[in-house]
Amino acid sequence: MKHETEFEISFDGGPVPARQGQTIGAVLHAAGIRSWRTTRFGGRPRGLFCGIGVCFDCLVTVNGTPSLRACQTEALPGDEVTSG
Ligand code: FES
Repeated sequence: MKHETEFEISFDGGPVPARQGQTIGAVLHAAGIRSWRTTRFGGRPRGLFCGIGVCFDCLVTVNGTPSLRACQTEALPGDEVTSG
């Protein structure tokens, strides 16, 4: 039985386990997802870098809202997160 503080979000259409209070960046990192976007020039992978809201390397789209920092956005039950 899942504890009530555990839930799922989706990432690029697939389920990812989450816990209450985690940021989306923490959820993705805990699931082994280390990069989710690429640089405009050079196509280099990016994910969490600073982890404190400064670098903007961790941008994701959450429930249709683009350009949110994964390291500063709390994961909520049912969130649909995409890397685009
Ligand atoms: S990891 Fe640097 S702003 Fe999110």
